[in-house]
Amino acid sequence: MRDVSTYKERRQPSEMIHNFKSKANNSSFFSLNSQILCKFARKFAMKRLMNSKKKKKLRWFVPAGMEPTEMDLKIMAWEAKGRLVPTPSLIRTKEQIEGIRKAGVLNTAVLDAVAAQIREGMSTAEIDRIVYDYTTQHGGIPAPLNFEGFPNSCCTSINDVVCHGIPSEDDILEEGDIINVDCTTILDGYYADASRMFIIGKTSPERQHLVDVAWECLKIGEQVCSEPYVFVGDLGNAIAKHAHKNGYSVVRDLCGHGVGIDFHEEPDVEHYGKKGTGMLLVPGMTFTIEPMINGGDWYVCGDAEDETEWIVLTEDGADSAQWEHTYLMTENGVEVLTH
Ligand code: MF3
Ligand code: CO
Ligand code: CO
Repeated sequence: MRDVSTYKERRQPSEMIHNFKSKANNSSFFSLNSQILCKFARKFAMKRLMNSKKKKKLRWFVPAGMEPTEMDLKIMAWEAKGRLVPTPSLIRTKEQIEGIRKAGVLNTAVLDAVAAQIREGMSTAEIDRIVYDYTTQHGGIPAPLNFEGFPNSCCTSINDVVCHGIPSEDDILEEGDIINVDCTTILDGYYADASRMFIIGKTSPERQHLVDVAWECLKIGEQVCSEPYVFVGDLGNAIAKHAHKNGYSVVRDLCGHGVGIDFHEEPDVEHYGKKGTGMLLVPGMTFTIEPMINGGDWYVCGDAEDETEWIVLTEDGADSAQWEHTYLMTENGVEVLTH
């Protein structure tokens, strides 16, 4: 309840400024009777007031006249302790959840279509056509297409490509390649985002192990989210521990994200970090977990020949693997909306 009233206070800045002005005029400092000094001091004090107001700005609030729920109280308690909490806009309505769920079903079918046809000798441009055709034939839109200059309908990232690989007629899948196909599907305005690794023919034990550990990292992140009111840092911490235990590293420059109403929303879902940091994950939030696990070091770089500047490579040329799902946090932990 205390937090609710703080919020109300925050809603009336003009009144607070008015109080300040009348106080300022009475202070001994202002009795120096210097117009300039007075103006300066007032400006300075106003700035301080604005700053303190900023500091106090709360992300979570209960609409006026509403009794706070159990969930409100939990979130407000964490915010009072200085933790990062969601804003109410990150909590999906029932209708939104149904929409995102349906986008997830189509997204899964798109990746299944890729899985059924991917093979040695195929170009990544062919994968892109499968994604485009299947998505559009089922009433969806591939979100990557023309997204901030991205030229295709999905990302195809082979071996040392960490993510955002661009499909091309020139990239032919070879025996032993490991490839991530990342699809984001828009259906009726709702987004679902998932990616899978595919192994072309038989690969080396090293590459197989990297792909397996990347999958385990996703599952570990998911397990940490088997109850609500955990922090993004909790899952990142667990994922990084597992990667490191296996001699691998976790990419830091790219992260998972809120998804559903838009392609990339709050929160950032980093796959490394300290427990208790990052955003509190509460029922009704939808987000991805998508750890990028490198066989070598975590540093990434761009491709000098890539004019789009989308492609991300491992700096040391080592292989990288990634799996991604879209999740809904519920009272009983996460539910996966893509499969
Ligand atoms: N699907 C990617 C993600 O997991 C984003 C790709 S952006 C694109 O967030 F433009 F390259 F498609
Ligand atoms: Co994503
Ligand atoms: Co994705």
